[in-house]
Amino acid sequence: MKYLLHTYGCQMNVRDAEAVAAILEAAGHLPAINEDDADLILVNTCSVRGKAEDKAVGKLGLLCATKRTAPHRLVGVMGCMAQRRGAALRQKIPLLDFVVGTRQQQAIPAILDRLAAGERGIVQLDDPGVAPRVPDAHLSGGISAFVTILLGCNRRCAYCVVPDVRGAEYSRPAAEVIEEVRGLAARGVREVTLLGQSVMSYGRSNPVWERGAPSPGGFREDLPRLLEAVSAIPGLCRIRFTSGHPSGCTPELVRAMREILLVCPHLHLPVQSGSDRILGLMRRGYTAADYLDAVARLREGRPDFALTSDVIVGFPTETAEEFDASRRLMEAAAFDNTYIFKYSPRPNTPAAAMPDDVLAGEKVRRNQVLLEEQDVRGQRLNEAYVGRTVEVLAEGVSLRNAQRWSGRTPTNKIVVFPHLPSIAAGDLVPVRITSAKPQALYGEVVLPEG
Ligand code: 5AD
Ligand code: SF4
Repeated sequence: MKYLLHTYGCQMNVRDAEAVAAILEAAGHLPAINEDDADLILVNTCSVRGKAEDKAVGKLGLLCATKRTAPHRLVGVMGCMAQRRGAALRQKIPLLDFVVGTRQQQAIPAILDRLAAGERGIVQLDDPGVAPRVPDAHLSGGISAFVTILLGCNRRCAYCVVPDVRGAEYSRPAAEVIEEVRGLAARGVREVTLLGQSVMSYGRSNPVWERGAPSPGGFREDLPRLLEAVSAIPGLCRIRFTSGHPSGCTPELVRAMREILLVCPHLHLPVQSGSDRILGLMRRGYTAADYLDAVARLREGRPDFALTSDVIVGFPTETAEEFDASRRLMEAAAFDNTYIFKYSPRPNTPAAAMPDDVLAGEKVRRNQVLLEEQDVRGQRLNEAYVGRTVEVLAEGVSLRNAQRWSGRTPTNKIVVFPHLPSIAAGDLVPVRITSAKPQALYGEVVLPEG
């Protein structure tokens, strides 16, 4: 069968889609070149905002309508919206062939067998009573790979649908993670990003180490120990992890980020708001000062440390002054990049009981202000790279300019450079930066002397 995957949402979803693709290929299926060519189309959905769900429902409706001319085509839905709405999705879109939860990637080949036998409308959601098995399958050929280390989320941020959808935290056993990374490195992967919704909680809710195993660096906390163990795997040159929370920026983690050379000097650390009252309503568990404290500890003695973040505008009751506090915090923290979200009430979250009282037009305005200010800030911070030589992990032909190649710095900046025949994907290349934009750097490869 030829399959096509449409993925919305975060890196966790991107990783889940890759796992499904690899599982399908291992079962003998092939990627389709486009929708017309596909016998199976799977939409991997996100629930973070109502709009993201509406878009996915619209897409699924259109895909099911194509069955009129391609009656053999199967259409399925996976990811957060699939888990959250379950069988209700079939009532809305009756031609939907199957719905699978966020921990069901490995069940898909068996579901396809049942569909081949004529069954329709299969709904298989996550069972909180069953210990998950995280798929370790990857597509081949990448330089950079995502590795899931923590499922679910135990935080209860007032606006967020994720804890309900993705379930309670489950930390994968360290040995399993190390094995997966070892296999990736043996296949040429140079960079891994360890994933979890609240990745710094790794190992806190269920033990992941055989107690007593000493850590050469003397790390006692679970994520620092995992970073250390992963950094000893031959072939890797970079390690990242995401997403962070300020409470996880313990002295030990800060030390691990500094001392373990493979761990990149970059962190995605969502702040959500700069106002203490709003942070309290959001139940984030820190103040703006706590957040800036964590930032100062991460950056101490490392001015190049890059920070990216998420900010929500128009949370219930957010005033113009409270919005200004977010603007000030973004500047004080000098975010290299910020993803800005207009607040959207989500069913069954505490914030949904609060009045969604910031007018839509005002949310758009606040969103625009933050985007513009972030652009100016990103430009300023990136200009500081001009004239410097940075180490770029070459990825391949640039998406923006087919004449050039691109890669990333340890600080996760995209660098576009002219390709030389001696450069292969996966090489670490010195590039002298000659110009900067808010979202990318441009430069020339520095050739070895002589
Ligand atoms: N409305 C708007 N943005 C949200 N996010 C999470 N829930 C909501 C919501 N209900 C944003 C947060 C989070 C990012 C992934 O999505 O900023 O960090
Ligand atoms: Fe969207 Fe959150 Fe699900 Fe990721 S975990 S896909 S951001 S709802």
